[in-house]
Amino acid sequence: MPVSQPRVAVRTIQTASPEATRTLGATLASAARAGDLIALRGELGAGKTQFAKGFGAGLGVTATINSPSYVLATEYLGRLPLFHLDLYRLDDAADALAGGLLDERQAAGVTLVEWAERFGPILPAGRLDVEIEGSGDDTRTFRLSATEPGFERYLEAIR
Ligand SMILES: Nc1ncnc2c1ncn2[C@@H]1O[C@H](COP(=O)(O)OP(=O)(O)O)[C@@H](O)[C@H]1O
Ligand SMILES: [Mg+2]
Repeated sequence: MPVSQPRVAVRTIQTASPEATRTLGATLASAARAGDLIALRGELGAGKTQFAKGFGAGLGVTATINSPSYVLATEYLGRLPLFHLDLYRLDDAADALAGGLLDERQAAGVTLVEWAERFGPILPAGRLDVEIEGSGDDTRTFRLSATEPGFERYLEAIR
């Protein structure tokens, strides 16, 4: 059965440097509310972690956000708690459930997921989708999609 993802609002924006990507993340973080999910997609080196660093800075996280080699989820303290998930090494959605990668504590903070598509069917319906195209030193194209009206405030934050 084909799955069609509702997209209530979409915005495309380009960044010409890692700094610009971090600034975009920080700007979007100003719209963050407890319980939000930010789902990042894009190939290795697209800039998902750069975006996460900026998003965290925008939330007031002072710790260094990176992509640890063997950890799937890291929690950071900010204006809201930030749950940074990286599913690159996840084999399938069943493992995500088994590993407790989605849990009720995330309702109190913002969950930002790299390789979010690897959640498969357990990816929650209400999200800001962030799809990144581009690699190397090229300009990145960010396609931001609110999947529910409640997430349109992120798109308004960059107007
Ligand atoms: N416009 C840009 N936005 C983000 N990263 C960029 C950009 N231009 C070059 N880069 C580089 O691309 C790499 C992105 O790495 P990273 O954020 O870890 O990617 P990912 O988490 O998607 O695998 C970094 O080395 C960064 O310096
Ligand atoms: Mg990464």
